[in-house]
Amino acid sequence: MRFSLNSSPIITQRHTTLIVSLFEDGSLTSSASKVDKACHGLIHKLYKQGQCQGKLGTTTALYSLPGTQLDHVIVVGCGKNRSLTAGNFRKIIASSIKSLPTTATNSVLLCLTELAVEQQDIPWKIQQLIEVSTHTLYQFNQFKTQKEPCQLKELQIHAEMNSHNKKALAQGVGVAEAVTYTKNIANLPSNICTPSYLAKEARILSAQYKTMNVKVLEEAAMRKLGMGAMLAVAKGSAEKPKLICLHYHGAPKQQAPIVLVGKGITFDTGGISLKTADGMVGMKYDMCGAATVLGTLKAVAQLKLPINLIGVLATAENMPSGTASKPEDIVTSLSGQTIEILNTDAEGRLVLCDALTYCERFKPDVVIDIATLTGAVLIALGTHASALLTNHAPLAQDLLTAAEQSYDRVWQMPLWDDYQEQLKSPFADMANVGGRFAGVITAACFLSRFTKKFHWAHLDVAGTAAMMMGNQERMATGRPVPLLVQYLINRKR
Ligand code: BES
Ligand code: MN
Ligand code: ZN
Repeated sequence: MRFSLNSSPIITQRHTTLIVSLFEDGSLTSSASKVDKACHGLIHKLYKQGQCQGKLGTTTALYSLPGTQLDHVIVVGCGKNRSLTAGNFRKIIASSIKSLPTTATNSVLLCLTELAVEQQDIPWKIQQLIEVSTHTLYQFNQFKTQKEPCQLKELQIHAEMNSHNKKALAQGVGVAEAVTYTKNIANLPSNICTPSYLAKEARILSAQYKTMNVKVLEEAAMRKLGMGAMLAVAKGSAEKPKLICLHYHGAPKQQAPIVLVGKGITFDTGGISLKTADGMVGMKYDMCGAATVLGTLKAVAQLKLPINLIGVLATAENMPSGTASKPEDIVTSLSGQTIEILNTDAEGRLVLCDALTYCERFKPDVVIDIATLTGAVLIALGTHASALLTNHAPLAQDLLTAAEQSYDRVWQMPLWDDYQEQLKSPFADMANVGGRFAGVITAACFLSRFTKKFHWAHLDVAGTAAMMMGNQERMATGRPVPLLVQYLINRKR
């Protein structure tokens, strides 16, 4: 989909689908009233007759309006309040886009930046229009033999062509394309998306940008380094693990890098602590953290952000077999600390702990890991917010700010020492599980034992990166790419 800004008067538009809006009390926004005037009060009249409603998210399609050269006008309802919440603004965009016939080939002009959104300016609205429209039109039909492609080619946004708006356009497109890229990888099934597939994808991505290069650590190298935790996860599978490192250079060498670490379990059966059949559906999405890191790097390279960024993808497949790790096995991690694997289904923290220790060599400014780490986060926060846990309060503040700006929201949870006790093992330095209570926190406590040497934040995205349950609704969301890109944009100032 192409996006552009259009600042010509509404009424001079020809052969266009126009999207305008109306409130529940019948009051029209500025573009809606211009259309209404041109067609001698038709919209107002339809409202009076109850043919056109202002209820939030309802849409009414009007064709060939007299007095205009417009093909099609869609009137979208904005509800009661003149000042919209960010969430309602996004709902209005999504319903508008859903009401477009995907077979139509004419141009579409969205007149929605004129709506007032609490605490947000026009550039923010432009960015949201691009991201939400792209999200709403997303299809993953790579494996369908009968495709119904969307005919829409361009969406225009009614806004002035000043430098702020043009920048918002570029940022919105950068984020939207990276989100789509992340979804396309995340939605792949595990018989295609293996650790070696992800390594190949990383190589393709880095070949597209002169500012990026890639290094893949193979199993032998991991063994030599002593990554006993990561290897313990992979050893039940025929697929070899890979630690994939992508380096983006956008700032002078001496500037310390930001490192993003993604959990890349290409399928999580649970291992010998096998999941139930129902519990396994959705587990192709256990590499969403890695897909997010790829997408974030793509956006950063596309937008040429003046930072140094490293992406680390900790990839492996978690399978049960004669060579798999077993409950009560003890392994030595790259850090030297020993771990008793009480549950082979708590494999994410095992690959991440070695990847995090590996990050020390980059002398990072901050490290952020992104992982579909626990089912517990779905119980705690549902699908609306990712969990945030960190050892550095200012980093929490920066991420919370970026989350509000991008509407890719997070909620902070405590990382108090009191919870560390749940990880005690009588045989090793720690166990890999902390019991039934506070599963999100004990998982983060485990990781915190490997991140003492740098500022670190953990994002548990098991509830937000994909809709994993239900047969029809399963789909990747591309989150938290918008959050991370916004965080990195803010960092350069
Ligand atoms: N990949 C899962 C977490 C998950 C569960 C993501 C459901 C999305 C939906 C993770 O590897 C896992 O299995 N975690 C266990 C941890 C437990 C054994 C301590 C869990 O959440 O049950
Ligand atoms: Mn698991
Ligand atoms: Zn997992």
